[in-house]
Amino acid sequence: MLIRTADDIKPSEITPEHVYRSRRRFMREALALTGAGVALPAAALPGAWLDERSVLPGAPLDETMTSESDATSYNNFYEFGTDKGDPAAHAHEMTIDPWTVEVSGEVAKPGKIGLEDMLVGIDLEERIYRLRCVEAWSMVIPWIGFPVKKILDKFEPTGNAKYVMFETLHRPSEMRGQRSLFSSIDWPYVEGLRLDEANHPLAIFAVGMYGNLLPKQNGAPIRLVVPWKYGFKSIKSIVSIRLTETRPVNTWNDLQPREYGFYANVNPTVDHPRWSQARERRFPTTLFRPNWIPTRMFNGYDEVAELYTGMDLSRYY
Ligand code: MTE
Repeated sequence: MLIRTADDIKPSEITPEHVYRSRRRFMREALALTGAGVALPAAALPGAWLDERSVLPGAPLDETMTSESDATSYNNFYEFGTDKGDPAAHAHEMTIDPWTVEVSGEVAKPGKIGLEDMLVGIDLEERIYRLRCVEAWSMVIPWIGFPVKKILDKFEPTGNAKYVMFETLHRPSEMRGQRSLFSSIDWPYVEGLRLDEANHPLAIFAVGMYGNLLPKQNGAPIRLVVPWKYGFKSIKSIVSIRLTETRPVNTWNDLQPREYGFYANVNPTVDHPRWSQARERRFPTTLFRPNWIPTRMFNGYDEVAELYTGMDLSRYY
């Protein structure tokens, strides 16, 4: 897996001014530095970063990145509507500057913290991950982020902390899906992980993708990315992190418990009640060229298997 670390970039500088545009500019500069000395790929790949070191774990050499335009125009972000194009069309209505995250529950140092303060002392890394949606489509996306554990540790989880609950912004005035009378979701969107899952080095908070800050439709300014789980676990636009002793609710499990579990590990042997999970449509995908590929256990991230030793994953789906 490609991990590039920008040792000399203070993430606190990402938002030196409260202007989104300048944040983007800084991110580009930061990422230019991050990529310094890294060979460019032979082919003209989207994002222009894929070289022999960016080959995904266990992947054939030709597993290439999804185009930025696909990854930013085909989205699930029900706060802005249920069609794949709705987030790109409407997420601009959400304001994200300033942004604060509240960390509460089983931590020694609870508090509300501005995003830029939260990132002080944290190095940004580029991670190219597969994203496998429970709907059986998938992408390969270059994220910019840092391990979830780095933030959790700052707030010092207590010995009682066993789970982490995440919550998306709840602001119906800016999120038309939250205003919709047809929505069956009990807002805000919530997700959860076991603490040891959240502490796994593959679990990251992303603040950027394709060398820029996260577009709003992808969950700006900060979202979770848990690459071995179905995409719905990777909650967007996070405003609250709560450490708990008991298992938190997660939105899709709450909505359809038979169809969506708490664990939601990518698993080709456990089908969704309404469709097979044995394969997935990898972008670019069209009606006539769906580009089906086999789905892999844990989405190919075998190193997480030890988190589930002894668990019946067909029961804890
Ligand atoms: N987070 C929130 N708050 N609301 C959502 O509707 N959709 C999830 C996840 N995070 C969702 C969310 C689903 S189902 C998927 S597949 C991924 O976001 C999609 O991420 P992407 O749009 O960046 O590809």
